[in-house]
Amino acid sequence: MGEFVEIFEVGPRDGLQNEARLIPAAEKIALVDCLSRAGFRRIECASFVSPKWVPQMATSAEVMAGIRRAPGVSYAALTPNMKGLEAALAAKVDEVAIFGSASEGFSRANINASIAESLERFAPVAEAARAAGLPVRGYVSCVVECPYDGMVAPEQVAKVARALHEMGCYEISLGDTIGRATPEAVTAMLQAVTGMVPAAQLAGHFHDTGGRALDNVEAALAMGLRVFDAAVGGLGGCPYAPGAAGNVATEAVADRLAALGYETGGRAVLDEAAAMARKMRTG
Ligand code: HMG
Ligand code: MG
Repeated sequence: MGEFVEIFEVGPRDGLQNEARLIPAAEKIALVDCLSRAGFRRIECASFVSPKWVPQMATSAEVMAGIRRAPGVSYAALTPNMKGLEAALAAKVDEVAIFGSASEGFSRANINASIAESLERFAPVAEAARAAGLPVRGYVSCVVECPYDGMVAPEQVAKVARALHEMGCYEISLGDTIGRATPEAVTAMLQAVTGMVPAAQLAGHFHDTGGRALDNVEAALAMGLRVFDAAVGGLGGCPYAPGAAGNVATEAVADRLAALGYETGGRAVLDEAAAMARKMRTG
């Protein structure tokens, strides 16, 4: 058996948040339930953000209440502030994520705060989550390029990743938010970040706008990363990242990892989930 590489399924959150059609909670629940059978350890299925900013995620509490929780699976949600954390706790999520950016432009557009303000806002959220017994994951967006500020320096990514790590995030997911990264840029970025945070506590989060996401997964594997975020059926985009296409498709990552000799877990149910996800897409 090959070395295990984990796929963190983010389709029900990152995937669906950008869909133009308001998807009924029942459809989202059916997708999460199908994904639960596919054998993921972690599934991000909710986001307790302002419904004015991301209307699609307004049903998050309903989704969390409706899913059938499989034993051993961690059902995750985004929590940008204390209000979000309170809602996540009420919905009994298993883990939460705070999400910052390596670029000022995207930070402003996405969460209406500078990078420094966002880190100040996250600190009490991380502390309260951990006090409540919830693991906290951290995201850094725009780890290579920002739709507003252009290219982002690897040192800047490392700085934000370190801040989230010091806040107690058990893992930092590095987001190529607009999906334009090349493997060379990913390697350079990871050379800086792994100087601050061990590779074992990093995850790769690649959108696939430029069609290089699988190559970027390989570049990150070579740098020691063993967790990758992906969205079933290639769902996705980000409402505050103009032009961002879907996350790299889970089934494509699973196939690439298998071809490289890695173990990722079950594949059979994944095709059913991918078909279901594709039907949910607007365009
Ligand atoms: P703000 O407008 O500065 O917040 O937004 P505020 O505190 O001034 O509150 C404004 C209103 O929002 C108030 O309501 C609050 O109650 C409400 P009003 O009094 O006007 O009726 N509010 C909330 N409602 C529900 N849940 C909450 C919440 N907080 C405030 N948690 C805020 C700041 C962060 C809330 C806003 O900017 C926001 O919600 N942003 C979320 C944006 C988002 O979800 N983006 C997508 C996720 S990130 C992503 O996809 C990238 C990632 O995949 C990695 C990658 O690819 O790079 C993770
Ligand atoms: Mg994303």
